[in-house]
Amino acid sequence: MAGQPDDTAPATGSDGALAEITPPYEGEYPIVIEGLRNAFGEHVVHDDLSLKVRRGEILGVVGGSGTGKSVLMRSIIGLQRPQAGRIEVFGKDITGAEPDQNIGVRSHWGVLFQGGALFSTLTVAENVEVPLKEFFPELATELRHEIARYKVVLTGLPADAASKFPSELSGGMRKRAGLARALALDPELLFLDEPTAGLDPIGAALLDDLIRNLTDTLGLTVFLITHDLDTLHAICDRVAVLADGQVVAIGTIPELLRSDHPWIQEYFNGPRARAATATADRRQRDGAAGPGAGGKALDRPAGQGA
Ligand SMILES: Nc1ncnc2c1ncn2[C@@H]1O[C@H](COP(=O)(O)OP(=O)(O)O)[C@@H](O)[C@H]1O
Ligand SMILES: [Mg+2]
Repeated sequence: MAGQPDDTAPATGSDGALAEITPPYEGEYPIVIEGLRNAFGEHVVHDDLSLKVRRGEILGVVGGSGTGKSVLMRSIIGLQRPQAGRIEVFGKDITGAEPDQNIGVRSHWGVLFQGGALFSTLTVAENVEVPLKEFFPELATELRHEIARYKVVLTGLPADAASKFPSELSGGMRKRAGLARALALDPELLFLDEPTAGLDPIGAALLDDLIRNLTDTLGLTVFLITHDLDTLHAICDRVAVLADGQVVAIGTIPELLRSDHPWIQEYFNGPRARAATATADRRQRDGAAGPGAGGKALDRPAGQGA
């Protein structure tokens, strides 16, 4: 009987999928990058870049336009094969591996790409179901629907948003739907590329609070690319600065302010930076979720004890 092609073993399908599930990562650095090099022809984007992301933190990743923030994210998630260097995720070297070799790792992260990019012909719930179908094809349809509805509500969308198409939603709601899809697989690691881009300041602040709250309640580690100074002040535990092909500085905002790198000074001390500091102070006073709300044992950016 064994080996017969039409042997039916209905229970083993989902067991097989569950076998992919590894326990939560308990090490200190879920992402470790060393000596990373990325180039497109003559154009060197990253050269000997190193970075460590701490478990449980929201790491803001900033840098001028075109400094390689998105390429860095794409390298970590395996969409961009680096020319050199080493990338470890959850303690596993995944450099240059084919995507399907990393299924145990890939199913433990969620991604919100720049621009959000929901499938416009699918409803919000169907969008959330895409990764579920990909990674857990044996999952019963009703259970899949149930998980999708739960994720939609988790991101603060009304339940009836699940059956809507992206074009029927506001910009802020679309971002939440994208976040729901990124959370579909209960990830430990979340990659967000410019999540607040295109939102008005109020919508952006609400999304920031949601990201901070989800991070703390779900115990996520977040790699957050942004150029939004308000976001950095409000929710990031540390900030990594990309310039000259490398991470030129990493730390809390007060720590970064001590750097004399010209881009850092311009960025964090320019007129827009002062406005953002004022906003952060106001939001802290008003009791919105700020970096202090999580209570994690990480150094705090501006606002705490200032
Ligand atoms: N697939 C690609 N082919 C060629 N050049 C690329 C590609 N992707 C990104 N680049 C270039 O790499 C640099 C970094 O891009 P990106 O990471 O998207 O910047 P950003 O920091 O704004 O996210 C840019 O100069 C961009 O033009
Ligand atoms: Mg980008």
